[in-house]
Amino acid sequence: MAKTLFLILPHILYLITIDVSFCTLTASSPPPYKALVSPITKDPTTSLYTIPIDNRRPSVVDLAGPLIWSLCAPDHPTVACGSKTCAAAAEFRPPNCSSNTSRPPSDLYKPHCNCTAYPVNPVTRLCAPADLTLTTVTANATDGKNPKYSIAFSDFVSSCSIKSLLQSLPASASGVVGLGRSELSLPQQLSTEAKYANKFALCLPGGGIGVAFFGSGPFYLLPPILPAISDNLQYTPLIKNPTNPGYYIDVEHIAIALKQVPFPPDALALDKRGNGGVALSTVKPYTALRSDIYEPFLKAYGAATTGIQRMPATEPFDLCFNSSALASTRLGYGVPEIDVMLKGGKNWTVFGANSMQQVGAETACLAFVDGGAAAAAAVVIGGFQMEDNFLLFDAENSKLGYSSLLFGRMTTCANFNFTYGV
Ligand SMILES: *[C@@H]1O[C@H](CO)[C@@H](O)[C@H](O)[C@H]1NC(C)=O
Ligand SMILES: *[C@@H]1O[C@H](CO)[C@@H](O)[C@H](O)[C@H]1NC(C)=O
Ligand SMILES: *[C@@H]1O[C@H](CO)[C@@H](O)[C@H](O)[C@H]1NC(C)=O
Ligand SMILES: *[C@@H]1O[C@H](CO)[C@@H](O)[C@H](O)[C@H]1NC(C)=O
Ligand SMILES: *[C@@H]1O[C@H](CO)[C@@H](O)[C@H](O)[C@H]1NC(C)=O
Ligand SMILES: *[C@@H]1O[C@H](CO)[C@@H](O)[C@H](O)[C@H]1NC(C)=O
Ligand SMILES: *[C@@H]1O[C@H](CO)[C@@H](O)[C@H](O)[C@H]1NC(C)=O
Repeated sequence: MAKTLFLILPHILYLITIDVSFCTLTASSPPPYKALVSPITKDPTTSLYTIPIDNRRPSVVDLAGPLIWSLCAPDHPTVACGSKTCAAAAEFRPPNCSSNTSRPPSDLYKPHCNCTAYPVNPVTRLCAPADLTLTTVTANATDGKNPKYSIAFSDFVSSCSIKSLLQSLPASASGVVGLGRSELSLPQQLSTEAKYANKFALCLPGGGIGVAFFGSGPFYLLPPILPAISDNLQYTPLIKNPTNPGYYIDVEHIAIALKQVPFPPDALALDKRGNGGVALSTVKPYTALRSDIYEPFLKAYGAATTGIQRMPATEPFDLCFNSSALASTRLGYGVPEIDVMLKGGKNWTVFGANSMQQVGAETACLAFVDGGAAAAAAVVIGGFQMEDNFLLFDAENSKLGYSSLLFGRMTTCANFNFTYGV
């Protein structure tokens, strides 16, 4: 019986409606298609990436965010404050985020005690306590090649937000969607509430519309002759930071033009208290290196490019070149390669398209920035370095799959076929 239902259902839904709530079925059974797909747009003003997951309004993608949050209607549903869900929502509460509406412990057991969440703006780091609520998440089911039909999941846990918390986000954004390693992040809720595999892929656009997948592959990018992009990845372990829900990888060295940048051993390590380490972030436009790493990195890059004509530095960058003097290759400007040397001996190699940002007609700059001497992480890999790379965040197996620059495979992140396919 169940099998028949699975076979017919997609077609019925496709023919009749693309707007139906699928929630009760998916909550109890594996979904007929094993993944969801969503377009990713880069906002030119803020360099932030959005997906239309919150009732089709754009939400800022925060890879390291613990929660989904957005503006609420005044009559939004609430969540009981003594519940397990409420405790999960407070897990990554910033120490300085306190609610002036905080209630005495005795209140917890009174009827109508509503749960407070602590949404944080990932750009300004400001927070504003607000009600925990329930929202509807929308995306398209996919076979990995095309969107199939739209699905709406009601009753996903999210936080309300006051309007001022949206400051510094794209003008069109209604909130933030956290993809972090926490109970209430979007991928985790899709896994626990809708039985998708607890993994997702991000392919951030360097131009055009990129793509995010939630669930299991295979995933494809055009042209159609290409094998599944998700079948041909390198993997490195994901490591956890006990103090935040971000994604960290184990990097041993960084090399420029095959030479290791000299910095102390363990400079990139994540310690037991959650300091240091190499994190990935969709809200930092460029990779930020803590000053003790940035300085030798900049020096080494300068030494590897002595023959190339310099141009005046342009904020926020320190090293800029006459781009007319740089060779153009399939992988971007022909500049020294940067090897991010991962534990286990593999490299994530960064080519010109991910290391040089064009800032003027004749100027391109090394697109890495100084994160400051007191930066919490040693390295935060930013959006520009991830663009046109296919990244598979597999929380189930605690590993990160990476493709390196897709131009080398004759495709880009803007090449998902978003036409509905029957
Ligand atoms: C909440 O606290 C902030 C900062 O301490 C204060 O400016 C604001 O007036 C307080 N709001 C209420 C409703 O008490
Ligand atoms: C909790 O929310 C409900 C609406 O869902 C509201 O009627 C009630 O007054 C709220 N309780 C408190 C203590 O704010
Ligand atoms: C809380 O701490 C963060 C980082 O330490 C800071 O940026 C922020 O301004 C502080 N205050 C509030 C109210 O979020
Ligand atoms: C589903 O895909 C269609 C076709 O590409 C698109 O128009 C629609 O906006 C998508 N819906 C969501 C929720 O992403
Ligand atoms: C990784 O990069 C280093 C430094 O550039 C290089 O020496 C090494 O051969 C590379 N390893 C692999 C497996 O490509
Ligand atoms: C940049 O390099 C090009 C080609 O080598 C040269 O024609 C041009 O004059 C240079 N621009 C500046 C500002 O030096
Ligand atoms: C995109 O998908 C549609 C629907 O399956 C198909 O008709 C079309 O040929 C595809 N486009 C390309 C460029 O392959």
